[in-house]
Amino acid sequence: MNKIIAITGASSGIGLATALKLAQEGWVVYAGTRHVQRDQEQYANHEHLHFVEMEVTRPESLQQAFSVIEQTHGHLDVLFCNAGYGFLRSLGQASMDAIQDVFNTNVYGVMHSIRAALPLLQKAESGHIIATSSVGGLVGQPLNEIYCASKFAVEGLLESMATYYKPLFNIDITLLEPGAIATNFVKTVLGHVEKTGGLLEDEYKLIIDAYLHSFSTRNTAPQTSESVAEVILDLLRMETKPLRIRTSEAAEGFVSLKVSADPTGLDGVLKIRKTQLNM
Ligand SMILES: NC(=O)c1ccc[n+]([C@@H]2O[C@H](COP(=O)([O-])OP(=O)(O)OC[C@H]3O[C@@H](n4cnc5c(N)ncnc54)[C@H](OP(=O)(O)O)[C@@H]3O)[C@@H](O)[C@H]2O)c1
Repeated sequence: MNKIIAITGASSGIGLATALKLAQEGWVVYAGTRHVQRDQEQYANHEHLHFVEMEVTRPESLQQAFSVIEQTHGHLDVLFCNAGYGFLRSLGQASMDAIQDVFNTNVYGVMHSIRAALPLLQKAESGHIIATSSVGGLVGQPLNEIYCASKFAVEGLLESMATYYKPLFNIDITLLEPGAIATNFVKTVLGHVEKTGGLLEDEYKLIIDAYLHSFSTRNTAPQTSESVAEVILDLLRMETKPLRIRTSEAAEGFVSLKVSADPTGLDGVLKIRKTQLNM
């Protein structure tokens, strides 16, 4: 029987590449988008690929999408919480509304998605929840504190769930940790900076200039979203699912100081499971 996956943020980038790859591999894919008609028309000839509305800041949008899956299949094998966006402004410069928007999508969006899908995942033979974190979910970076805080929150959420979802629900948990990927991500970040007054000439200027200079002179090519989709396909085929997986050697190198003692995160999960649950 074909396995069923739901992906949030599947209208572009990592989510879309994964949706296309998995549909091609025979998975039944529910691709969450905010542009159903556009995406359905564009990918009409893809068997097994269904675009459904998923606005992750609206729980009722997710409930609606998962009720379609429930009526059609009765269960869900994998939930991939991927919707999210970057944010480049210091805490002191950003508006609280903009900060809350980041958390509404990157953090509460993941919570809404998991809460809506959990009953269906529990009905799968063995379920799997994957969330797109980032190397920024492990390593804080200048001017990225809001984005990093949102991804650290996702890390804390899923790491905690991983300590008991397997024994309780037979659901695996994985944090996908990409480095730089060539998607709409940077365009969205710069679009927000542009819309909110551009680069501000204030006391942060020294740091902003240094950061942008280093960004423009780093000559590492970003990974493609198709290559991330391959990593996800490999992950789905693994017998033992890691808690954490980086998507490239560059990403691995970037976080090595943080994860070298327990690269997959599984040793930590097993230790907490043993000490706090005796399982
Ligand atoms: N690209 C990178 O360098 C990079 C690195 C590390 C982690 N990531 C993470 O990777 C994930 C995917 O990003 P990407 O790089 O593939 O960028 P992308 O091409 O901009 O894709 C982002 C996706 O999230 C969707 N989205 C944003 N807000 C949403 C909301 N409120 N409800 C539903 N969908 C929403 C977007 O939909 P619309 O098209 O409607 O806006 C789009 O489908 C994000 O979680 C991001 O933080 C990216």
